[in-house]
Amino acid sequence: MNISLITQFPEFENEYVDVVNAFSPYVKLDENGLEIQILRENLDNSCKISIKYGDFHNTQTLKLTNDLIVDKRYLKRISKTLLYQALTNLTNVSLPWGSLTGIRPTKLARELGGAKFLQEDFFVSLDKAKLVDDILANQGNIVDDNPKNVDIYVNIPFCVSRCSYCSFISALYDQKKKFMKDYTKALAKEIEATIQIISNKSLNLRSIYVGGGTPTSLSADETYDALYPLTKVNNVEFTIEAGRPDTISVEKLEVIKSLGASRISVNPQTFNKKTLDLIGRRHSVEDIYTAYDIVKRYDLSINMDLIASLPGETYQDFVNSLTCAIDLYPDDITVHTLAIKRSSSMSLDGYDNTSDVASMMVEYSLNTLQNAGYKPYYLYRQKHMSGNLENVGYTRSKPVIYNIDNMEECSSILANGAGGISKNCLFGKNRIERISNAKNIEEYLRRIDEIIEKKIDFFS
Ligand SMILES: C[S@@+](CC[C@H](N)C(=O)[O-])C[C@H]1O[C@@H](n2cnc3c(N)ncnc32)[C@H](O)[C@@H]1O
Ligand code: SF4
Repeated sequence: MNISLITQFPEFENEYVDVVNAFSPYVKLDENGLEIQILRENLDNSCKISIKYGDFHNTQTLKLTNDLIVDKRYLKRISKTLLYQALTNLTNVSLPWGSLTGIRPTKLARELGGAKFLQEDFFVSLDKAKLVDDILANQGNIVDDNPKNVDIYVNIPFCVSRCSYCSFISALYDQKKKFMKDYTKALAKEIEATIQIISNKSLNLRSIYVGGGTPTSLSADETYDALYPLTKVNNVEFTIEAGRPDTISVEKLEVIKSLGASRISVNPQTFNKKTLDLIGRRHSVEDIYTAYDIVKRYDLSINMDLIASLPGETYQDFVNSLTCAIDLYPDDITVHTLAIKRSSSMSLDGYDNTSDVASMMVEYSLNTLQNAGYKPYYLYRQKHMSGNLENVGYTRSKPVIYNIDNMEECSSILANGAGGISKNCLFGKNRIERISNAKNIEEYLRRIDEIIEKKIDFFS
């Protein structure tokens, strides 16, 4: 079914498109389709928001506070929810996350005072609301309001090959090898400056996360040259997202341990060789077991990432991958749902990401992991996810501070490396500001001193 949107809230158009897209494959935006109108009428101290198509008509009135930011937020929420109700009426389909399109439902539930408000105000399903409440409970008292809380993020935007579903900004290591000496030097300089900011301002460092890309694309020596300043920091959670099993070696692990890391990711995504080939991972299932065996020799907490609804996979394929991951018994398992964003090669090839089995896979993972002793502790959503579902991190030991801080936005993030985005919550969580480092490697190298100066300014 094709529909077109006419709205008197042009400022929320992108959000409305997200709601409509969440209904694909049931509806598609099209200029000549059935017209849905979202209208506003300004009254004394209030605003009437109406939605219409054919005989369908629905209205809500918002009492205005005269705080423009607050009013805008509620006008957006109400009009999106009216649009969601209209589309539900049109298609007879309800979505697991109702009218929510944002990436942080747990943060919103915390602000509203619990997931029951997600059900009442956004039509989130009972199952998802329960999941959100469980996650908030499992996070315990990790989230706190200390405005001095900070985390360090280090971006290593290189990979050994490009996975077809991936939209992360990451270059091929072989193509950028000639810059690696300069990159590691610049990154070490930026990390030194970051540690200095934290110390000068007596900030409370909670965790370090080295991600990418694939940090273990770098050689053992390059890893040390880039990250040695982190040896100055002790006693905080320190993750290196190795990721690709075929990039993990004893030499690199020796360096990773010497840097003080406490946690590592070994990411299968799937244990199905046919799928690994199809998505361009260029490693075998055996490589996953070999990498896991090596990592097990070190005293590191281990995470494994899986993706539900990978191309060509059946429900049984996913069940098999989850079983293999649980058999290895890592500390954490993160279950993502395939999201196909515009910059991925699958999107460019026109891949249709609708799935009849994604929600069964995700439901199976929740039940099975809980039965195996894993608790959900963080959750986030993305655009264009199969079945409009979510990504959930599970742990059988301690919830991971960085993942919670990043998703709940209860802590500032000092990001390092090309493409890193720093987030400043030092004014309190209602005012979050961001600055980005240059994404391009050559530009990052050229402007490193300016980037460091800007960051010192940003956190002063
Ligand atoms: C920074 S990414 C990559 C980490 C590492 N380079 C790897 O591939 O193992 C972190 C995780 O996000 C997930 N991910 C990446 N792209 C995704 C997509 N398009 N849909 C769903 N999950 C995705 C994968 O599970 C991946 O391990
Ligand atoms: S999924 Fe990981 S290895 Fe694959 S391209 Fe993305 S960042 Fe690189």
